[in-house]
Amino acid sequence: MAANGRDVVTMDKIVGLCKRRGFIFQSSEIYGGLASTYDYGHYGVLLKANVKAEWWRAVLQERDDMVALDAAILMHPRTWEASGHLEGFTDPLVQCLGKCKKRWREDHLREAEAEAEAEADADADAVAAEAGGEAAAGANEELRCPECGGELSEPRNFNLMFETHMGPLQDEGSRVFLRPETAQGIFVNFKNVLQFARKRPPFGIAQVGKAFRNEITPGNFVFRTREFEQMEIEFFVPPSQARDWHERWVADRLRWYTDLGLRPDHLQLREHGEDERSHYSSATSDIEYLFPMGWSELEGIANRGDFDLAQHAKFAREKLEYVDSGTGERYVPHVIEPSAGADRATLAFMVDAYDEEQVEGRERVLLRLHPRLAPVKVAVLPLVNKDGQPELAREVYSELRRRMPAEFDTGGSIGKRYRRQDEIGTPWGVTVDHRTMEDRTVTLRDRDSLEQTRIAIDELGAELERRLAAPWMSPKLG
Ligand code: GAP
Repeated sequence: MAANGRDVVTMDKIVGLCKRRGFIFQSSEIYGGLASTYDYGHYGVLLKANVKAEWWRAVLQERDDMVALDAAILMHPRTWEASGHLEGFTDPLVQCLGKCKKRWREDHLREAEAEAEAEADADADAVAAEAGGEAAAGANEELRCPECGGELSEPRNFNLMFETHMGPLQDEGSRVFLRPETAQGIFVNFKNVLQFARKRPPFGIAQVGKAFRNEITPGNFVFRTREFEQMEIEFFVPPSQARDWHERWVADRLRWYTDLGLRPDHLQLREHGEDERSHYSSATSDIEYLFPMGWSELEGIANRGDFDLAQHAKFAREKLEYVDSGTGERYVPHVIEPSAGADRATLAFMVDAYDEEQVEGRERVLLRLHPRLAPVKVAVLPLVNKDGQPELAREVYSELRRRMPAEFDTGGSIGKRYRRQDEIGTPWGVTVDHRTMEDRTVTLRDRDSLEQTRIAIDELGAELERRLAAPWMSPKLG
């Protein structure tokens, strides 16, 4: 368990818990599943909804410089010509020519090979240093299939956009795409928003919605899928302020993750090198999280300059600029884009919260989620299913659920019911017992400390609301 500093979480444990407790299922499971697509069950829906609600709270409700948008998934096909996706949203695909015929991303294979070589070189250096000699030089330049060792085809660029057709005819003229990012819906609405929002740069447009990418190598559960949800902001600024706003957004977004409980030592910033930046970006900082498979991108914060507005202005023959009505000054704003994945963030919160510990000789599995993220805030449990306890417990539950998401559970032993609530991350449990029938007090149990306190039913709602609003820190931080 994390209290002694050791992280026990693995992706298999997260996948197992998600299935066991109804967070996330393989899509179309009864037909054998559809690769890399997932369905969210009851607790998964609630958890992801809380992640998105916290995002809206931070980027919209608590700011004066943001407006919301919900653009359509299907957009005019010219959008993707202007944005550069039709031409450049590609990954280099190689196929195994040996036994397994699997497809791979060539850049990923090269990265993995470079890492392995660096490790091998370090080992060789160490051996050579110990022996007082020189490290062995040279490495095999040629890539082989990681699955079966077969030869690989020449790379070819593979466009990641899903296409479909609009209307009854399936020809080139009816071709449309499922958006690969929500961002373009914001850019094409820039003029509309500017007209009604009464905002001037610096201001932003925020959007949450589905995006689709025909990824060559999806994987790691909901980390990389072909259908996913993005939480994106396009923040429009006077060009001279772009660098400063980029830094401010990086700091703001990092703080959002730590405020919601992610351990700071499991987060890092990584600047993109020139060769890996997207075609539109002049600077990109990734917020990375230490997932079970290693450090991986959680959110990217890019400086997109005026690329998108200038491109759409050209392709749509529209003026997409800001004109100051007082001074007459006009310019094309530059754009800072904090772009996060709702599914990836949900996965990171679960991974960070997952814990196991021994309690009185039995293993307890739990999600130490920030209370604001927890799908259910409080469970109300009668100790026994008789003596008027279920009836009084239901009364307590009816009162509490008007204030916050609550559950009422009478099924199974009290220990089993608590284990279930621990696994879905419910921060508080209320037990109605024999004493409650006499003095109208209940036991209030804390998920993390297991501390049990006695409290009057009349004070319960206010106490839980106080706890829910209080600052919170992961108990794994000690
Ligand atoms: N508009 C910029 C953009 O889309 P991106 O880095 O390609 O940038 C932003 O994506 C975020 O969307 C990522 O940081 C990640 O959280 C999420 N994301 C991207 N591809 C994903 C996929 N295949 N599965 C799940 N999430 C994905």
